[in-house]
Amino acid sequence: MKEWTREERYRELRQPEEILDLYRRNQASPYRQRYHVQPMTGLSSDPNGFALHKGVWHLCYQWCPWGAVHGLKYWYHVTSPDLVHWENAGIGLKPDCFYDNRGVHSGSAISKGDDLVFFYTGNHRDDDWVRTPYTCAAVLGADGRPVKIPKPLFGPRDDYSEHQRDPKVVWNEETGKYYIFIGAQTLDLCGCVLVYESSELLSGWRFAGQLKVPGYERFGGMWECPYIVNISGQDVLIFSPQYTKLPGRGESTNHNVYLIGQMDYRTLTFTPQGPYRHLDYGFDFYAAQGAANVGDPDKAILIAWIGLPDNHYPTAEEDWEGSMSLPRELRVKNGRLVQTPVAAVRELRQAEIGPGADLPESCEIELSVPEGDFDLALFTRPDGTGGMTLHYDAESRVCHIDRTGLEKRFNEQVGEALDMPLEHPLGALSIFIDRSSCEIFANDGEATFTTHVYPTGEERGCRVSAGAGIRIWPLAASVTDKFVL
Ligand code: FRU
Repeated sequence: MKEWTREERYRELRQPEEILDLYRRNQASPYRQRYHVQPMTGLSSDPNGFALHKGVWHLCYQWCPWGAVHGLKYWYHVTSPDLVHWENAGIGLKPDCFYDNRGVHSGSAISKGDDLVFFYTGNHRDDDWVRTPYTCAAVLGADGRPVKIPKPLFGPRDDYSEHQRDPKVVWNEETGKYYIFIGAQTLDLCGCVLVYESSELLSGWRFAGQLKVPGYERFGGMWECPYIVNISGQDVLIFSPQYTKLPGRGESTNHNVYLIGQMDYRTLTFTPQGPYRHLDYGFDFYAAQGAANVGDPDKAILIAWIGLPDNHYPTAEEDWEGSMSLPRELRVKNGRLVQTPVAAVRELRQAEIGPGADLPESCEIELSVPEGDFDLALFTRPDGTGGMTLHYDAESRVCHIDRTGLEKRFNEQVGEALDMPLEHPLGALSIFIDRSSCEIFANDGEATFTTHVYPTGEERGCRVSAGAGIRIWPLAASVTDKFVL
């Protein structure tokens, strides 16, 4: 893989011409997604600034224009009327001032009246590469581009490490205040959440304290992208703990988990009711962010990066990588999250095809699974061998998913097989395949499994246990992927 110097990774983008050839090259890739948001060029990672504002969904992603490398980060902005058809809107925020001289890092947005307000981390580094993270804001301008507020809202605290970032803003009706959650690390290297409060969005922010999460004082070394949302009267804390291995998750040290419980904004205590669970059991799902202004107390809408920090993917050879997941609706049922793709995905369905045909490069598969053990293989070779396999063991209620049978293997170091445990017997699978991703929803969203996949032109077969019902719909393209800066 290409070795990048710091100068190359942290180069500022000045002219469109600097990435036009790269854009054309990236566009020619057989792995460009057709209905998932992806980097216009180079690398995309975390979703940022996700909100509904005046009937339009706004989403940004962490973007490094130059290639499959985490370097100088921009926010790239996309918009959608329905969470499924996305248009490129240009650079949202660029690292062009003292406070973000080494990157505009992750953050969120909230719509209030006529304003869409963005909160982000200005990643400042001095000449000795010492980092100071600032919490900054911007407001969507009349031309549809965010305009930065010149001064940060607040700087870092010196009683925590340099890891203080990813402001997620929420409004709490009960206290009548806005809160910002910051992902942080204590001086003795434990992950935590810092809470700031204000009654105004652009002023008056004060440190309220460290979020208390009983039982989770030593759970990973950094909590990235924290977020608390109330769904049907229950609070859900979602975060991405790092620097720790968790049972059943192979060698990976990056995770995305949730807790269901009660959040007390007055004592800043989140009391979990039940164990932590993985938001998704797949190989590639991280830094999930919920949309603001959904306007329905019984659901949240969430999107995540299909990818993990420290990993790289086969399209790195083509100088790009990354994708957003499908946006999902989150509901709470019997003390756990139930996740389903947003309704508008349905509209992408084309005429159904027969089960014996080659898998279309973008498609939806619906499977009804009979009682007992079950096997599925996707992306098998013409002779029926290989592919990504799913084996369901009825006794333990675990789906074991193994991608070692694919021609293009990647990230072997974190493991290529993982389990998706289920609470109920497996009855249904709903699978969304795009050119370089596969998202599996089990039992109407009881558990999900997201992974990148890079099938070759030959790997188009699909094999299922006898007795299962299978339906396949090709899906229409819904991302325009135009060159817009
Ligand atoms: C998560 C993360 C965030 C940070 C951003 C930088 O993947 O590390 O904590 O703000 O990526 O790109």
